Amino acid sequence: MPLMIGIPRETAAGEKRVATVPEVVEKLIKLGFKVAVESGAGEAANCSDDAYRAAGAEIIVGAPKLWAESDIVFKVSVPTKEEVGLLREGGHLIGFIWPAQNPELMQQLAAKKATVLAIDCLPRMLSRAQKMDALTSQAGVAGYRAVIEAANAFGRFFNGQITAAGKVPPAKVFIAGAGVAGLAAIGTAAGLGAIVRANDTRAEVADQVKSLGGEFVKVDYEEEGGGGGGYAKVMSEGFQQAQREMYAKQAKEVDIIITTALIPGKPAPRLITAEMVQSMKPGSVIVDMAAERGGNCELTEPGKAVVKHGVTIVGYTDLNSRLAKQSSTLYGTNLFRLTEELCKTKDGNINVNMEDDAIRGLTVIKDGEVTWPAPAPKLPPAPKPAAAKPAPAPAHGHGGGGAPASATKTAVMFGIAALLFLLVGAYAPAAFLGHFTVFVLACFVGYMVVWNVTPALHTPLMSVTNAISSIIAIGALVQIAPPLSEGLDRPDAWIRWLAVAGIALTAVNMFGGFAVTRRMLSMFRK
Ligand code: NAI
Repeated sequence: MPLMIGIPRETAAGEKRVATVPEVVEKLIKLGFKVAVESGAGEAANCSDDAYRAAGAEIIVGAPKLWAESDIVFKVSVPTKEEVGLLREGGHLIGFIWPAQNPELMQQLAAKKATVLAIDCLPRMLSRAQKMDALTSQAGVAGYRAVIEAANAFGRFFNGQITAAGKVPPAKVFIAGAGVAGLAAIGTAAGLGAIVRANDTRAEVADQVKSLGGEFVKVDYEEEGGGGGGYAKVMSEGFQQAQREMYAKQAKEVDIIITTALIPGKPAPRLITAEMVQSMKPGSVIVDMAAERGGNCELTEPGKAVVKHGVTIVGYTDLNSRLAKQSSTLYGTNLFRLTEELCKTKDGNINVNMEDDAIRGLTVIKDGEVTWPAPAPKLPPAPKPAAAKPAPAPAHGHGGGGAPASATKTAVMFGIAALLFLLVGAYAPAAFLGHFTVFVLACFVGYMVVWNVTPALHTPLMSVTNAISSIIAIGALVQIAPPLSEGLDRPDAWIRWLAVAGIALTAVNMFGGFAVTRRMLSMFRK
């Protein structure tokens, strides 16, 4: 018997999203499920009952009937007490739960003998889980919307323009915190033509900021900001002081500040003080995305846009609902991907497999038994090579922090190499020595060049190297060319045909290599 997935109308104040959209309903039905949608559930997200019906869903009027008939309920906002009351005994619920913040809700759901998958508990560090990562999809939309809100409140263009009516300088935007939302904001603001700067306590995001068209502004204080799992930690007082000084300088220079800084389980760090707001140019805008968690700006009023000291401070906490169709489409797709994982048999039935790391992490209640918090998932050994990569650094003199054993090993290797070079120098014929010197220098130069290339450019570099290496075609060309002087023999016909084949193959390599390089590089160009 195929299970029925139910989509209720969201009841939280201001919530305009819906847990699935008609395009996704079709996919769920292809997986073998039946889908029921409460009448009007998608209205605020521009999804009409008719559109759901056309996609194959059944429209049910009234929440009690929908909840009663659904084997699995898909939701967006944390369910209310009334909604839990409507959930079927032993039913399934998938949506945002935030178990740490909602212990009472967890108890109510457990009393219902429910099985609950909290999308906010997904182990995000598993690369396999990315397609189900609703926190990321929603933060991306919110980051985009934050820029649109800023543009709406800002009285000027984002891009610089030279017109007959005068010259307009580009807007300067500063993004505090370059997580998912921050990076989306950087990309959007840069796309609109603004000059974008960003700061984060985690130094590893600097490259991502640059690749999206922003400039990473460092705090003049050495301290690593990673708190594990890609999240931040609370910084030392010294760092915070240095950061405040840098932010105060930026506040005076920029037109728009978008703050997204967040540390899991902690109130949002206070980054923008009242004095900094006061120092901004009149007409400037601050969008504080962390408003719900206490705000990154001292003067933010959650849920409101206010004007203080001539600066508009936007503290909306419903940025996703302000782009309801987009947020719902991405959220619905995340839940569909999760359903695919739960229903590998594609027969409209689910298996909550607690052996699967991703599913285990999500499952906060199984048949009425609280299974949250899940043990940390076993991470694939993927990060290991990344950690091992910097290891060769000491070999060319950048470090020295390696273990003494590896230092001795390096010294021995160097000793052997030096001895070999000495022997070659002493006994090899002069002609060989000339070629050998060129070869060693080429290896050295090549190594240094490749080593200093940003990893993101390695593939284009490989393809262009491939193209250039096709210079070996010269050998084949010499074979088929007529002899340079009368006395010399032409090579046999079969050798010439081999040379022709060789030229054809290297031509593919050469032109293909350049074509691939062009395509790869165009991905980095605007
Ligand atoms: P995240 O945890 O991925 O990113 C937060 C970033 O802030 C991290 O890169 C972290 O390193 C950085 N950070 C932490 N402390 C910092 C400090 N002192 N200085 C500079 N950077 C610091 O979070 P995500 O997913 O990007 O979300 C960002 C914020 O947006 C969160 O506060 C989230 O609650 C909020 N949000 C708000 C919405 C709304 O409607 N207002 C909707 C969606 C997300």
